[in-house]
Amino acid sequence: MIQCWRLDTPAQTLVLASHNSHLPEVVHWGAPLPEGEGLVALARALQPDVTGGMLDARPPMTVCPLPGDVFPGQPGADIGALKPRLRLEEVVEEAGLLELGFRDGDITYTLTARTHAACDVIELSARMTGARIGWLAAPGLPAPVLADEMIGYAGKWIGEFTAQTIPWRVGAHVREVRDGRTSHEAFPGLVMPARGAGNGTGEVFALHLGTSGGHRMVAEELPDGRRQVLFGPMLSAEGSDDVTAGPLYITCSGNGLNGVMQAMQRFARTHILDFPDTDRPRPVHYNCWEAIYFDHDLAELRDIASLAAQLGAERFVLDDGWFKGRSSDTSSLGDWEVDWDKYPEGLQPLIDHVEACGMTFGLWVEPEMVNPDSDLARQHPDWVFGPADQPLGRHQLVLDMALEEVQAYLFARLDAILSTYPVDYLKWDHNRVLPFPDHRQVGAVYALIDRLREAHAHVEIESCASGGARIDYGILKRTHRVWLSDSNDALERMRMQHEAMLFLPPEIMGSHIGPRKCHTSGRTLSMSLRAWVAAQGHFGFEMDPRELTEGETEVLTRVCDWWKANRGWLHRGLAHRLDTRDRGQRASMTVSADGDRFVVWVGQKETPPHVLPHPVRLTGLAANDRYAVRLVSEDSPIPDWMTRGDMALKRGPVTLSGAALMSAGVSLPYMAPQSIWVLEGTRVA
Ligand code: DGJ
Repeated sequence: MIQCWRLDTPAQTLVLASHNSHLPEVVHWGAPLPEGEGLVALARALQPDVTGGMLDARPPMTVCPLPGDVFPGQPGADIGALKPRLRLEEVVEEAGLLELGFRDGDITYTLTARTHAACDVIELSARMTGARIGWLAAPGLPAPVLADEMIGYAGKWIGEFTAQTIPWRVGAHVREVRDGRTSHEAFPGLVMPARGAGNGTGEVFALHLGTSGGHRMVAEELPDGRRQVLFGPMLSAEGSDDVTAGPLYITCSGNGLNGVMQAMQRFARTHILDFPDTDRPRPVHYNCWEAIYFDHDLAELRDIASLAAQLGAERFVLDDGWFKGRSSDTSSLGDWEVDWDKYPEGLQPLIDHVEACGMTFGLWVEPEMVNPDSDLARQHPDWVFGPADQPLGRHQLVLDMALEEVQAYLFARLDAILSTYPVDYLKWDHNRVLPFPDHRQVGAVYALIDRLREAHAHVEIESCASGGARIDYGILKRTHRVWLSDSNDALERMRMQHEAMLFLPPEIMGSHIGPRKCHTSGRTLSMSLRAWVAAQGHFGFEMDPRELTEGETEVLTRVCDWWKANRGWLHRGLAHRLDTRDRGQRASMTVSADGDRFVVWVGQKETPPHVLPHPVRLTGLAANDRYAVRLVSEDSPIPDWMTRGDMALKRGPVTLSGAALMSAGVSLPYMAPQSIWVLEGTRVA
């Protein structure tokens, strides 16, 4: 007997088939099927032949292959020597929800699937109870048959979101994050383009595990040719007898990577992000970290704040160094009260000044951490997570967040700060890895943030972890911005932002103009490049504004004003990545929700391969409408004689049809290495 269920969003259908009440197989994940499709007939039609060199029946590739299944691939759960024969017990089918419950004795397995039709995302999770579970995958999925490669994420500190193309070949590609954080090294996502797919065309599948404690991913091609993808959170070494793996967010697009990106961005906006005030435009940030580091001086900070406000900042963020005894990264984490030596009257005088300048006030914290050189560690050495002799990381240790005393202490300290001072934003940092993964730590951090948000509902939170080591939809359900990277190098940022935008909407991607000479790369890049790259995300700046030249000030304020004038529609718009002939370019565009305007970014990292620049072809426009397109980034780091052509765009707006802009494109002036052109377009009557 075959039982089937289907889940639909406009761009995808997922069909599950259970044979004789066993755990189901996904028999179809892909383009939408017609309403009346015969699902059992489909499951039967997809049954492969039996041939030589195999068992007399094909062991199914279920959503959770188990040791007793005689399945030759990787299992979906680690339950030791147990070989349960799970059978269907319960089915709950409601609009947008499917729940399938299976049992064998004490062991239960529940698959939950929710459809988010308006966003084209399906949310999957698996819960297992009744055994010692060392690992569990969210419901496993088949990978596309007609695909040669997948795109996974590697990376490092100051080099997050490094997309890597991994060929499909027999064997398992296993990615494990064992350091207890989402990690710099492996954003928990996978993109699977079918053969021939690109930014705007072809079939592309994407998955993202929304959890913050590290994950294990298996993308496997079996010797018999089948392919499966398993994604599950890392658990503690002891495991647990009640594990939920997920949510795993999946989408499938028939319009290339852009379809995936638009679905994920829309989903994050609609179902993940929870802003205290949805109507509040993202404020321009000034962050003092790269200006002063630990060197806090009230008079200097006042000067900096005044200048930051003049340049356009709307929120002033006091970074690390404001609390008791914190004059370097060697001490004081855990002692969450103001440093009375640096701030004899507390933070209020600075906040008064910041507010008088018209800005709100944000504060850096790193609640999960403790320095051995702190009052907290001296008083409560037993609150440390992991062995006493573990190596320090940035001179610090992690607190055992699951301890009630730790939760109570941190809540009390943070609550006191937020109750004493008018803080509207916390930059919540997490600068060291855990000695080993522990899912309880993640749950406890989520609980602490949730409690604080309940008590201080107006406070926005940024998820920072030495840059982008904690970016996932789990943390984003309770935070409102990510610090994508500690690198403010605009060239590095251009790449990272281009990759991260597949999963993150621009308004939450913290992006700052850094100092002229980048502190993490040593590169000196033009203000134009730095500012326009920052304007792709949640715009801010964090150099010492007293060091800006007149020219830099002019560009910074112009871009800042431009961003303020456009953020309203940019942060509700539809993002597209653009194909360009020169692979050294990063090109993308955002079209407003009403289609009336757009902005195009074309960034050039290296010297272009040809003397003549190629026209850039746009997308997402109405073919028969006409658009006036003009350059808004007029700054170019090259001498005039290198860009001396009499080009239409240089003289003013060019007006062309959407069809022309999308098929012929428009020629940009010569692109110097390390430069960016930004175009703006408006629909004309
Ligand atoms: C790491 C962050 O990523 C930086 O932006 C800064 O906040 C430092 N920590 C402060 O210690």
